[in-house]
Amino acid sequence: MSDGAPREETTEVVSGPTVLSGRYELLRLLGEGGMSRVHLAHDRELGRDVAVKILTATGDRDSEDLERLRDEARAAASITHPGVVTVHDIGTTRDGLFVVMAYVDGESLADRLRRSGPLEPAETVAVGQAVCDALAAAHRAGVVHRDVTPGNIMLGRDGTVTVTDFGIARMGPGAGRTRTGYIVGTPSYLAPEQGHGGDLDGRTDLYALGCCLFTALIGRPPFSDDDSFAVVLAHMRSDPPRPRRLRADIPEALEAVILRALAKDPNRRYPTPRRWPSRWASRSGPATPRPADTRWSWRTRARARRRTRRGSSPSRTPPPRRTTRR
Ligand SMILES: Nc1ncnc2c1ncn2[C@@H]1O[C@H](COP(=O)(O)OP(=O)(O)OP(=O)(O)O)[C@@H](O)[C@H]1O
Ligand SMILES: [Mg+2]
Repeated sequence: MSDGAPREETTEVVSGPTVLSGRYELLRLLGEGGMSRVHLAHDRELGRDVAVKILTATGDRDSEDLERLRDEARAAASITHPGVVTVHDIGTTRDGLFVVMAYVDGESLADRLRRSGPLEPAETVAVGQAVCDALAAAHRAGVVHRDVTPGNIMLGRDGTVTVTDFGIARMGPGAGRTRTGYIVGTPSYLAPEQGHGGDLDGRTDLYALGCCLFTALIGRPPFSDDDSFAVVLAHMRSDPPRPRRLRADIPEALEAVILRALAKDPNRRYPTPRRWPSRWASRSGPATPRPADTRWSWRTRARARRRTRRGSSPSRTPPPRRTTRR
């Protein structure tokens, strides 16, 4: 963001190209969501490509709403992490609010699943771990995403995994006009507490991430129905299907992580993304080991040291913990 204040009436049509705020030249449409269009644009000021998301049907916002949206965008812009798509700027056009963010050369997880079907367990683990790292950074900055979906997880051509749209879920049409009675989020990825209209925190994002990982492995979310209300109710009341019953090659450890993320009661989920087991990847088959995956607990290291002293070699994969701290 530049000066933080949403600038008004900034659409300028200059013999063909549409230019927002006198600097963002829209080049082509990258994709469309339920209430937004995302364009590849060129920032004439800084000479770089950016993604511009125009939130449709937000044109009638009053100044109080815009002030609140500015705060949201500021919060999102305060997250600096390689796994979080950076917010650069915010403004308004006649069509509605727009957000300028870093352009990701790649595709969303949703597009990837549509294009080539479910992911292998190892790749699912890698995506899950990367999203967890990004969420941890956001939650540290006090930002809860509220709409973690496969459409908001970007897979870069260079293999990077980034999360987009932090803080944007609350900018949707109607959001902010009433703090109760309006559910913000995507039904298939909506935590039970969002359905209840209860308090949301980082654990809400972990529930949605559990739904995303389920979708990545199975090809559909844990609860689906043509009726969105039925889906929201299922999140609140029904047990999710066990992923291993639907796909046999899913490692038990991965299923356990997903099912714990999908606990109805936030207290039964991982309390923070950092508490997700760092060893889950190493027990998920041929995942590419990352430094975080092989981080051992002090207890495991002590056990390994004892074994080494006794002359046996330590096992590379630590045994599963019987109890997990919350
Ligand atoms: N920063 C970005 N860089 C490149 N492409 C992006 C970026 N952000 C979004 N996109 C693309 O634009 C598409 C539309 O994004 P948008 O946020 O409008 O909808 P969505 O997240 O797919 O779904 P919805 O918001 O309706 O739940 C995405 O699926 C993605 O392909
Ligand atoms: Mg999105």
